[in-house]
Amino acid sequence: MTTSIAIPEDWDRSGLPGWTYFSEELFELECETIFKTHWQFVCHVNEIAKNGAYVTYDIAGERALVIRGQDGKVRAFHNLCRHRGSRVVSEERGQCNKAMICPYHGWAYNLDGSLRGIANKDTFPPMQAEKWGLKEVEMEIWNGLIFIRFLAGPQNSVASILARFDAEIAPYDLESMLPTDSNSMHDTLPVNWKSVRDVDNEGYHVRQAHPGLHELYGNGYFDEPFVDGTSRSVGTFNEAHGNSWSVRKYRDLLPKNPDLPEAQNCQWIYFGMFPNLVLGLYPDSIIFYQDIPQSATETIQRGMCYRRSDEDRQMKVARYLSGRIDRDTADEDQMLMVWSCEATKSSAYDGVLFSDLEYGVKTYHDHLRNLLPVMGRPERPLQGQMAEDNHGLLKKGA
Ligand code: FES
Ligand SMILES: [Fe+2]
Repeated sequence: MTTSIAIPEDWDRSGLPGWTYFSEELFELECETIFKTHWQFVCHVNEIAKNGAYVTYDIAGERALVIRGQDGKVRAFHNLCRHRGSRVVSEERGQCNKAMICPYHGWAYNLDGSLRGIANKDTFPPMQAEKWGLKEVEMEIWNGLIFIRFLAGPQNSVASILARFDAEIAPYDLESMLPTDSNSMHDTLPVNWKSVRDVDNEGYHVRQAHPGLHELYGNGYFDEPFVDGTSRSVGTFNEAHGNSWSVRKYRDLLPKNPDLPEAQNCQWIYFGMFPNLVLGLYPDSIIFYQDIPQSATETIQRGMCYRRSDEDRQMKVARYLSGRIDRDTADEDQMLMVWSCEATKSSAYDGVLFSDLEYGVKTYHDHLRNLLPVMGRPERPLQGQMAEDNHGLLKKGA
């Protein structure tokens, strides 16, 4: 395993203190400072290809829906009825006809979010309909991927954050990709969301924990650190034939993707975007996975696979095989997340010791500590003091 990154000699290898992995008080701050104010990936435009199709997205106490209007335009709204706050659409994804009808008392909204009608209108005082539409959520569509942000925050546009990867990403033509049911993931894990990120942000464990992945690209894998909230990892396929059936078959069968430069035909490339998204570009498909915290000690990990629009039979088999490798990898990772998160509550836990190969975890932690310096405190602040302590540290650093 190699790293192509110059790492400073004297870096802090100790990681975040254990208490940051189970403090509900910190979790509240994380929701406010991180999850509400940073871009969240919702879905691909082709998942809501038809007019009236929608997908919902909940995080950090916020609820959103993205819907394609009758004019074909995609918009994002709070999934919150203006009458008394019910969800306006109740399923995770679905199809509306001409309107969204609130399931509580039946207020109706047009697909562009404007108020369409009120049940028993004459029982309300006179209302200006244009003031009572669904509230919009900030949205950006980047290469066919729909991102939303509930509150303004420190990030620039998605396009500018990821611009340094544009040339590498362009040949995959993300916008034309189509959703699939294969290899989708929606798992609830008994862990803090940072334990998911910690496992994901380093490849040191690949050799030991992921036999299949190691056979696929173990010797040619490297992680780059987080830079301004994004990261890149590349696995170049090994030459040697391995023992894993899926890996052997995958490498044998994978057809050449004519749109990709030579090197990318034998690579899996991952892009991380702060705080919780990983995008994987494979010659046969693209995938994403994302962690959605539910509390300080519970996290949903979800993911999906998208196929090429010109996928032929052979490419489909290759996608099936890469999905098998990925599913095994995810299962192996989830166990490690649980174990390392559990450890933070043990009386024997006295932090971690990172190798140079785990520098990506450290740089991710740096990003967190910049936003929430209270995470650098070795001891948990006194009950009720978290926000104030953090505020004081931010002021001191400013
Ligand atoms: S809460 Fe939606 S109609 Fe009453
Ligand atoms: Fe892993």
